[in-house]
Amino acid sequence: MGTREPWWNGAVIYQLMPRSYADGNGDGIGDLQGLASRLSYLRWLGVEAIWLTPIYPSPLQDGGYDITNFKDIHPELGDLAAFHRLLTAAHGQGIKVILDLVLNHTSDLHPWFQRARWAAKGSLERDVYVWSDDPHRYADAPVLFRHFESSNWEWDEVAGQYYLHRFLRHQPDLNYENPWVQEEMLGVVDFWLERGVDGFRLDAVPFLFEAEGSRCEGLPDTHAFLRKLRARVDAHGRDVLLVAEAIQPVDEAKPYLADDELHGAFNFVLTAHLFAAVASGTCKELCNALEEAQRAVPGCRWALPLRNHDELWLGDGHLVSEDVIQVIRAGLHQGQGHWLNWGINRRLAPLLNGDPRPNRLLHGLLYSLPGMPHLYYGDELGMGDWPGLRDRDPNRTPMAWTPARNGGFSSAPDPLLVLPPITAPGYDYRVVNVEVQKQLPGSLLNWHRRMLTCRRLLPALRRGTFELLESSHPSVIVYSRCIETMTVLVAANLSGAGASLHLDLSRWQGERTREALWGCEYPPASADWFIYLPAYGFSWWLIGEVEESVEFSANDALSSPA
Ligand code: NOJ
Ligand code: CA
Repeated sequence: MGTREPWWNGAVIYQLMPRSYADGNGDGIGDLQGLASRLSYLRWLGVEAIWLTPIYPSPLQDGGYDITNFKDIHPELGDLAAFHRLLTAAHGQGIKVILDLVLNHTSDLHPWFQRARWAAKGSLERDVYVWSDDPHRYADAPVLFRHFESSNWEWDEVAGQYYLHRFLRHQPDLNYENPWVQEEMLGVVDFWLERGVDGFRLDAVPFLFEAEGSRCEGLPDTHAFLRKLRARVDAHGRDVLLVAEAIQPVDEAKPYLADDELHGAFNFVLTAHLFAAVASGTCKELCNALEEAQRAVPGCRWALPLRNHDELWLGDGHLVSEDVIQVIRAGLHQGQGHWLNWGINRRLAPLLNGDPRPNRLLHGLLYSLPGMPHLYYGDELGMGDWPGLRDRDPNRTPMAWTPARNGGFSSAPDPLLVLPPITAPGYDYRVVNVEVQKQLPGSLLNWHRRMLTCRRLLPALRRGTFELLESSHPSVIVYSRCIETMTVLVAANLSGAGASLHLDLSRWQGERTREALWGCEYPPASADWFIYLPAYGFSWWLIGEVEESVEFSANDALSSPA
């Protein structure tokens, strides 16, 4: 790949659930055709890549993460030709496409599993999955979906054995000890790379191998397989992003980022600390989490989500401490019945009680920290959720496009819709939608667009060094992002009260300072530089003169036609 910078360095990635995004054929279910028709919106917004949650044939017991054919498209979403059209159109708009790669398990309706249960015990066909006569094997592996399952093993009448499932009983774990399984799954990677995809988000990647006496997470054999996968991807000779979904502490997530393994890994520890910082109004622990991540793997290889299609996963004390979990539980708005498995099952805006200030603050941090910021569809509008729907469906409701019927998501009669559009007070799609927010200059949507435009114009935020600066205020985090030709200073107030403080900018003594988002001049840098940040306020400042080529011109960029 040479020394050229890969496309994902610092890229902003937009996650969407195709079934809930846009319905192109009027059957009530979002599809690839509908998504293709919304690419111009995504380009206008300014995201660089889209990650699609699974699009493969599936009985949908787990939102499509239960797959019956890895090399096809779910008929409700379209077909391989529709995928080709989507990919070509996305590339035409300069948008990369990332697929979810579910390596760990299949659906129990996958032909491999059906064949395995009927095959003779100990045969190669049976061995495609992990079987046992004893349901107490691997007893140290926690049950992940504890809301739905009480064991990692399920009895199969036909096979006369138990099979392992780290997730739902409908999702038997593949047996990576079996070389046939490894080769088949590498073949899946080839299949999609030959069709031109730009990356994979590797679902549930820690769980590929098991070992007695361990949590069965991130074992050496799992890493060995991932290195094989990386080599296979590299053999295609183009920049293909591989990101690990490993909900693990930073020291356990770090090995996925070895040079010969994956390019990126989600930092869910940081996500929890971002919420804890807002919940407590203090930033010390957040600073520690940032330092830890940068010490472990410097630069922009951490994928940074705020929310996604799962619950806000806080874990059992293994991911972040019980204290952090308590701070979040006490400080964020949850409402009744929103605790699922190991976390809080709410979208971002309701978690923040509908307050746009911490919402902007958290995204402001995400867009200025080193890494790959992830934006979950609808969060650019402050979309709400639908409590009472099953499992994680409350967070997976249709995108709100217009104030018209079904929020412009689909022309189908409402009983046919994949999930009900949001009409909850404060979040009704007649108010919270793309069309309305596009027209309101102060809307969250236009704010996101401005932020993304500024980020593009400030390469220091994309690939600059990261350094925490001394802050004399417990609620205010201060850091710099620098490249040779540009320095951006960031300060953010995590609390709901205003904060004023002096910053020691003596290392830039006398240099020009300008607020970067709106372009207003500040006094030159000094050892005693005064700032005031309102409740949940933050700013980005440019320090010094910047070269002509990167001269900041967000207003010009934003006034260009959509
Ligand atoms: C993680 C995915 O994000 C989640 O939605 C899914 O249920 C599990 N992996 C199992 O595939
Ligand atoms: Ca449809």
